[in-house]
Amino acid sequence: MECLKPLRIALTKGRLEKFSIEIFDKIGIDTEELKNKGRKLVLSDKKNNIQFVLVKAADVLTYVEHGAADIGIVGKDTLLEAGIDFYEVVDLKVGKCKFALASIPSFDLNKGYNRKKIATKYPRVTREYFRKLGKDVEIIKIEGSVELAPIIGLSDAIVDIVETGTTLKENGLVIFDEICDISARMIVNRASMKMRIDKIKKIISDVQQVVNN
Ligand code: PRP
Repeated sequence: MECLKPLRIALTKGRLEKFSIEIFDKIGIDTEELKNKGRKLVLSDKKNNIQFVLVKAADVLTYVEHGAADIGIVGKDTLLEAGIDFYEVVDLKVGKCKFALASIPSFDLNKGYNRKKIATKYPRVTREYFRKLGKDVEIIKIEGSVELAPIIGLSDAIVDIVETGTTLKENGLVIFDEICDISARMIVNRASMKMRIDKIKKIISDVQQVVNN
């Protein structure tokens, strides 16, 4: 028997929004409400009994982890930073970017004896990266415009996301190391995967097909 509760999908606001809508359009989900959302927070496709909610990246994880959303679309950067083991079902191959170590051109990680200061929005990713390198650094957590930090002397370097490279270039920064590739992922709440296996499996295979074409 079909479950009456709508299947709820949490989407990341911003850059991934457009890609997510394109994918759901292609698998025949009605995204009209989503496209014309105004200030509404819950957007429905009543025919397919699906609800979308648009939230900040880290909140996608919270909603899916607690089962308030069955499915989530979120960047691998957010997943890596959270360090929580989610049921990651599809690499959507959109929202592609990478984590990189960057700074002003004169930066040298191995020069001098002082502990280097690294500014980032991603302390866990940064800690893990330097742990693997065997380098003891001081991590300074900031919330945005990370590129500013080495320019005005808050830090020696940054670990941040690079997409087109424009922000680095326009601020005179260069990449010293590429840490890992990032793209959008579809995640599923573990209980939902069991309880609503048929509906979720169909969405996964439809989305997988769109991604592969
Ligand atoms: C991200 C990231 C870089 C920029 C990279 O910031 O932190 O600043 O995008 O993109 P690019 O390589 O295409 O220039 P975001 O725009 O999310 O805003 P933020 O600075 O507030 O974090």
